[in-house]
Amino acid sequence: MTLLSTRGLTRHFAGIRAVDGVDFDLPEGEIRALIGPNGAGKTTFVSLLCGRIAPSAGTVAFDGRDISHLPAHRRINLGMAYTFQITSVFARLSVAENVGLAARRRLRGRAKVEAAVAAALARVGLEGRAGALAGDLAYGHQRLLEIAMGIVQAPRLLILDEPTQGLSDSEIAGFKALIRELAQSATILLIEHNMSVVMETAHRVTVLNFGQVLAEGTPEEIHADRAVQAACLGVG
Ligand SMILES: Nc1ncnc2c1ncn2[C@@H]1O[C@H](COP(=O)(O)OP(=O)(O)OP(=O)(O)O)[C@@H](O)[C@H]1O
Ligand SMILES: [Mg+2]
Repeated sequence: MTLLSTRGLTRHFAGIRAVDGVDFDLPEGEIRALIGPNGAGKTTFVSLLCGRIAPSAGTVAFDGRDISHLPAHRRINLGMAYTFQITSVFARLSVAENVGLAARRRLRGRAKVEAAVAAALARVGLEGRAGALAGDLAYGHQRLLEIAMGIVQAPRLLILDEPTQGLSDSEIAGFKALIRELAQSATILLIEHNMSVVMETAHRVTVLNFGQVLAEGTPEEIHADRAVQAACLGVG
């Protein structure tokens, strides 16, 4: 079953075609990596999926339903969760409070929320930092906190924009295991510059370049693709 699809999805910014006629299909249960050079349109594309920005043209469908005109919070209620390239945690709240805010979108009752928060923090390896102020975490750990805020919502689709930025090598190894585990219960769309993460986690890879789909295939196919190598030179 196709969980998410776009047709002709397009977004212009003052003459720049940031996303330009993208047809995209994501089957349920898949881990899909979205790669491409800086400025290729990756963040703009997922912002259109989430409803953070409106398309100039084209459609987005989720679970067979046209959601092109749904506001972002309604898309979250349908089961889309996302983390963005710029961290958006509440710096002056604790780690647990941040996750608790996200959990209360779905759960009622203090005990249920607390249990879900503890479980989500354990999954990303932040259980020891529950009481810390989010603003005191290292940047990479703020990204992990955002992932916890996403997974506590038990999403059907989890979209992650460069989640490994700022993580150490050992933390990245843990992240790969986390993604595989999350894929048991969610479909994952992962914007990623780290090629080892792409190669070791993704079922398929979509390459964006100048707002358009340059290539799509298995990690091995994409790795061997000459056009992709030329476009992504110096990336990853
Ligand atoms: N709000 C905006 N206003 C104007 N131009 C924008 C805006 N957002 C993105 N752009 C432009 O759209 C193009 C695509 O940007 P986008 O951030 O989507 O790329 P990206 O693939 O996520 O890049 P990166 O790998 O650096 O994160 C770029 O040329 C960028 O400058
Ligand atoms: Mg980006």
